[in-house]
Amino acid sequence: MDKIVIEGGRKLKGEVTVSGAKNSTLPIMAASLLTDEESIIENVPNLKDITTMVKLLHSLGAKASYENGTLTVKPGKNLKPVAPYKLVSTMRASVCVLGPLLAREGYAEVSLPGGCVIGARPIDLHLKGLGALGADIEIQHGYIVAKVKRQLRGNDIFLGGNFGSSVLATANVMMAAMLASGKTYIQNAACEPEVVDLAQFLKKMGAKIQGEGSPQIEIEGVKHLRGARHSIIPDRIETGTYMVAAAVTGGDVLIKKTAPEHQNALMDRLAQSGVRIERGKDTIRVRRNGRLRAVDVTTLPYPGFPTDLQAQMMALMAITPGISVITEKIYPDRFIHVAELNRMGSRIFLEGNSAIVHGVKRLSGAPVTASDLRASAALVLAGLVAEGQTEVHRVYHLDRGYEKIEDKLSRLGARIWRAKE
Ligand code: EPU
Repeated sequence: MDKIVIEGGRKLKGEVTVSGAKNSTLPIMAASLLTDEESIIENVPNLKDITTMVKLLHSLGAKASYENGTLTVKPGKNLKPVAPYKLVSTMRASVCVLGPLLAREGYAEVSLPGGCVIGARPIDLHLKGLGALGADIEIQHGYIVAKVKRQLRGNDIFLGGNFGSSVLATANVMMAAMLASGKTYIQNAACEPEVVDLAQFLKKMGAKIQGEGSPQIEIEGVKHLRGARHSIIPDRIETGTYMVAAAVTGGDVLIKKTAPEHQNALMDRLAQSGVRIERGKDTIRVRRNGRLRAVDVTTLPYPGFPTDLQAQMMALMAITPGISVITEKIYPDRFIHVAELNRMGSRIFLEGNSAIVHGVKRLSGAPVTASDLRASAALVLAGLVAEGQTEVHRVYHLDRGYEKIEDKLSRLGARIWRAKE
């Protein structure tokens, strides 16, 4: 396996272009199963998770190929509606094939994803929503076995859980409702831009959807969907990671081909902490030459501060004078990066689902490991500003979600490279 090596201390300067959103692409790939016709998906990032989803589409009997950012999917007439443990355990998002398979085939067997390092991650809301549409669901030998007697029927479904809305449960229920009879209302739907992007793709396929991006989505089932061509929105978490990278190094970075309107919560926190932000139509310039100020951060469903940027923000607060409190309300145990950051000299204490961050003057480079994608990104950011050399191990996790991270950061002036373990 590879590792990423960073010599800290360089200010990032220049321009970086953001890739398409991983978390938009994955459900849209699943949605392409709702027709037997070909769909073309553009601006697809070259990431390990996308390769895993391509493998899953193959194992379901669909044709799928990826070249230069464009994905072509042709499901054909005969699908084999079984998502095996091997693929689902590699990537939880595989569970979003459940809705489309059920809608098209009336039957699906999908391995239960199980927990992961960021928390328990139940799928009760997915099952509740699909059950309300008329699916008969059982758990057998670690698999969700879902059947529909005749056809799924539209319903009024409340999809809120103890931690608020769910992105992939909203996606799964939306996709299942596409070919159902009558109208479906999803209440407490996730408002994330990735849900809106999925709705845009589904509309191009011929779906009738209203209210995407708000907590109530209305769907009128149709008889047939066709293949569609769609370009994926920019990745807001990759964007946010480069914004924090500019801030943490005291640099000046222009982030291009992004969607500034998706970044309000992060822009607000960075501006409060003394970072200068200029937003253009599809660009964000992030600059810092003064001292940082401590800010408190609480993660919330969109448009609140994203949990997927919590670890990166913590790396910034780790070198910010004063005390900041970072509270995690989506995944209360998502703090795997705390112990690793502390190995680099930060002073962070956990108190329930909050991290109390006492800013230190400097971090010192160290070998570190994290088994979560965003935690690994936070360690890279800490490495950019730490004294000496940092080695981030298990790069596999970064490769799941960041396209060419070491190339993009090198071009901004960082000393960062990939090496063999
Ligand atoms: N939840 C339930 N029951 C459910 C589903 C979710 O209680 O049936 C809870 C979760 O445990 C969590 C909260 O609801 O506390 C929100 O989870 P959500 O379902 O929204 O997460 P997800 O859809 O499984 C997506 C992203 C995650 C991101 C979360 C939150 C994809 C492929 N994944 O996951 O991204 O953290 O939304 O925004 O879209 C990442 O990219 O690193 C990543 C983990």
